[in-house]
Amino acid sequence: MVANSDSAKATYAALAAPATTPAKTAQPLEAKPSGPNRLFTHPDQSFGDWRDDLLRDGYVVVKGAVPRERADQYADQMYSWLENFRGGMGYKRNDPSTIKHENLPIINEKGMVNGYGISHEDFTWAVRQEPGVVDAFQKVYDTEHLIVSFDIVNMAFPNRTDMASNNPWPHQDQNRTKPGFRCMQGIVNILPNGPEDGGLIACKGAHLLSTQFHEDFEDEPNRIWAWTPEWYGFTAEGMEWLKNKGCEWVKICAEPGDLILWDSRTPHYNLTPKGTNPRFCFYTCYMPAAEATQEDLIRKKGAFETLQSTTHWPNALHVGGGLPVLRNGEPDPYNINQPRQRPELNETGFKLTGIPYIKA
Ligand SMILES: [Fe+2]
Repeated sequence: MVANSDSAKATYAALAAPATTPAKTAQPLEAKPSGPNRLFTHPDQSFGDWRDDLLRDGYVVVKGAVPRERADQYADQMYSWLENFRGGMGYKRNDPSTIKHENLPIINEKGMVNGYGISHEDFTWAVRQEPGVVDAFQKVYDTEHLIVSFDIVNMAFPNRTDMASNNPWPHQDQNRTKPGFRCMQGIVNILPNGPEDGGLIACKGAHLLSTQFHEDFEDEPNRIWAWTPEWYGFTAEGMEWLKNKGCEWVKICAEPGDLILWDSRTPHYNLTPKGTNPRFCFYTCYMPAAEATQEDLIRKKGAFETLQSTTHWPNALHVGGGLPVLRNGEPDPYNINQPRQRPELNETGFKLTGIPYIKA
């Protein structure tokens, strides 16, 4: 099949208008910075809940952040998105034989859907606006004033024979020269995710060794190339260092609606599903609005209004671009980088775009 470029352009033009948002408030919101209970502020912090596990391990599962009923609805919407892609290319959720490259949008070997405007689909925004998800991040940062990344979605299928296998790529998503807790990452899990169902694997407790690690590896001769300074890849020597410190790699399991949180310093990667369940999840990352500059917020507003994606950094450190979406070695003609329709945001979602915090 060849994309109809005229219809693709027409669709793009229709969507390129500023996204629908609640009316802008007359007065810009004042972003309250993190309070004293922001995680990793004091070494003796104790909360008596999941935050204690997160402080100790560098990751945690917040159970039931999204009610099961709504998690199941999101699963249905994701399946429908796949089944109706380009009017339906042959994929059917109940027929594993239809899980083929030619029937689907491009999903890379890590399960990531990098194109098609999925970062701004209605269901993606609905997940970002989930009260239990937002509440967890408000507790992490001890402020109600947050902004959210326009990050992507993962739809990994087991036992695919039509693509290269996924090799481990242990990394941290934080600049090695900027120590300390800076960013909490999140995954909203949508399908049952057991030991064989792929997903996040994290190096338990290694976030607390991050500063020491990077001091020891400051002059590393074979450093892995990174497209952004906010990424660091662990070499075999780095993995050996972690092992010698007694760090354990843990596959994190979750039920539909659970929120997995991990400190950006925590080494991690993902595993391909090996059982019968696909792995569906949303990458959701929030940070205090007060930690974004006005320039960041203006750049982020542009990304929202043109419905472009960002990485996990909510301050829109990187806008658009991302990994190439290739079909048969060429840019996928079906990828117009726009959602099916402009997202309708509620008041929470609009604040999370950062737009209400822009002063001028
Ligand atoms: Fe990562």
